[in-house]
Formats: sequence, structure tokens, C-alpha cells
Amino acid sequence: MEQKLTDMRLAVLGTGKLGGILLRAYLKQGLFAPKNVSATVKRGEKAAALAKELGVAVTTENRKAVQGADIVLLGVKPQVVGDVLKEIAPKLTAKTLVISVAASVPTSYIEQRLRGKVPVVRAMPNTPSTVGCGMTGICRGAHAGAEHLETARAMFDAVGRTVVVDEKNMDAVTGLSASGPAFAYIILESLAEAGVKVGLPRDVATLLAAQTMKGAASVVLETGDHPALLKDAVTTPAGCTIDGILELEEGKLRVTLIKAVVKATSRAGELLFEK
Ligand SMILES: NC(=O)c1ccc[n+]([C@@H]2O[C@H](COP(=O)([O-])OP(=O)(O)OC[C@H]3O[C@@H](n4cnc5c(N)ncnc54)[C@H](OP(=O)(O)O)[C@@H]3O)[C@@H](O)[C@H]2O)c1
Repeated sequence: MEQKLTDMRLAVLGTGKLGGILLRAYLKQGLFAPKNVSATVKRGEKAAALAKELGVAVTTENRKAVQGADIVLLGVKPQVVGDVLKEIAPKLTAKTLVISVAASVPTSYIEQRLRGKVPVVRAMPNTPSTVGCGMTGICRGAHAGAEHLETARAMFDAVGRTVVVDEKNMDAVTGLSASGPAFAYIILESLAEAGVKVGLPRDVATLLAAQTMKGAASVVLETGDHPALLKDAVTTPAGCTIDGILELEEGKLRVTLIKAVVKATSRAGELLFEK
């Protein structure tokens, strides 16, 4: 990275759930200096409350916010991206890096609405970014180079892990790792419910379920071992785990999860076109 992030000016347009998670993390970690950050939201009262909470300039004026920005982080809903780009296009140059986290919005859609060869990186983070355990897929548009991907990677590595993918796979990233936390919470909640059914207090059951899921995921990430091998290691012949697995197979857990990700992926391609 030629220029350090701390020296760069960042504009976050659409500081809602996700934009807020990212901006809070950047400020907490000192990744960007508060004086170099401007942010926007739709409603004036929200802007005032956020400005007070975060100690940065927050307004409802996108065009003003991007004035002099090195990086513009687009955190608005997919259907709003077009209107926001129309507003800010006159202020952006080939030196401004635009990073969009909007699901379903291709880099070409953004490039066509900007003037000149503005570099665009598309990113798909997820909400565990809020505790530094996020997973983000990024890809670059036609005018973005390796240095732009590197800048984006540094911004998403600050809240978890980052993987570079081809743009054709971005809806799949959305269906798997951006929607994924919701699927994981349902599994976790069900395990906790099961714990209650077999006699555990709810708080203990939830702790056991959450730490078990975290532990299993950590083993996969740290060893790189195939999940099937790790599952086999837990499964003693004629023991209790194999009886549980039989129930999961009868209940079609695998195929249900696969279908959930397939559905979410195909839905991810439709969002932009809805008003
Ligand atoms: N949530 C996720 O897990 C997740 C994961 C990956 C990607 N994303 C993407 O992140 C984007 C935002 O999602 P979200 O869940 O964070 O939604 P959200 O909480 O509704 O945030 C959207 C924000 O945009 C603001 N806004 C609306 N119109 C605006 C305008 N014209 N100019 C400036 N700001 C405007 C809203 O302002 P007010 O607060 O005043 O209403 C709000 O703060 C979406 O494109 C989504 O696809 C979300």
C-alpha cells in the first residue's frame, strides 16, 4: 500500500448496520483518523446521534461527504446505490477508490454511473465483523488494480478474514458467508434448545452450543483438516455420536443447508432490481 490508511480520507455513505460495524471498528483500531472520516445516513436525527457517538462528521449530504475523500465506502441498500452514485459522480476522480458492500450490485453498474476510470472494489462482509470475526469476499472492477484490492483487504482484515474471488462468485459469497451467520444462529439456537430438552439450564445450554460451534470452526481453520475427517474422529464405533448423526441424516440436515445457500445465492442476484 503506497499510502497508509491513517493518512487517507474515508467517506462512509450509508452508515447503517454494516457501515456502522465497519466504521466503529476502524475508529476503535485507529485505522483511520477521526478528522479524516466523514459519514452519511438518510435521516438528520440519526446523523446527529452518530456524530455524537463516533466523534466524526456525520451528515445527510453525500456529495459534501465525498469531497476530498480517498476512499468512498458505499454502505447503502442495493436499491439506493444508483441514486447515491448520481449524487456523488461529479466529485469522484480516478484517484478515488470506491468500495461497495451492496449485495447484488456489480462493479460494472457502479462504473457506468461514474465519470472516468474510477477504481471500484466490490466487497461482501458479514455481521460477525462486529467482534473482529468477520468473513469478507472481495473482487475488483475493471479500473481497480492490485493496490486497490490491497487497500480493501486491509480494511476488511481489520474486522476478520478476507478472500479475493472472481466477481462471478460474489452472489455465492453472499449466500454462504453473508447470509451464513443467520443459518448458524438457527443451528446454534436449536442445539441450545436440545440442551434444554435433555435437562440443561438454558444459559448453560447456549454456552455449550456456542463454544462447541466456535471450537469446531476453529479446528477447521487452524488445522485445515477436512470436516469429514474431524467428524470421524469424534464418532466412536457404536458410541452415542453415530446415533445422533443418524438422526441428522434422516432429518436431511445436509441437503437442507445446501438448499438454503443455493436459494440465498440466487436471491442475492435479484436485490438490485427491486424498488
Ligand atoms: N447486514 C448485513 O449482514 C450485510 C452483509 C453484507 C452486506 N450488506 C450490505 O450492506 C448494505 C447495508 O445493509 P445494512 O444491513 O447495513 O442496512 P441498513 O442498516 O438499513 O443501512 C443502510 C443505511 O443507509 C442509509 N441511507 C439510506 N438512504 C441513504 C442515502 N440516500 N444517502 C446516505 N445514506 C442513506 C440509512 O440511513 P438511516 O439510518 O438514516 O435510515 C442507513 O443508515 C446493503 O447494501 C447490504 O446488501 C449487509
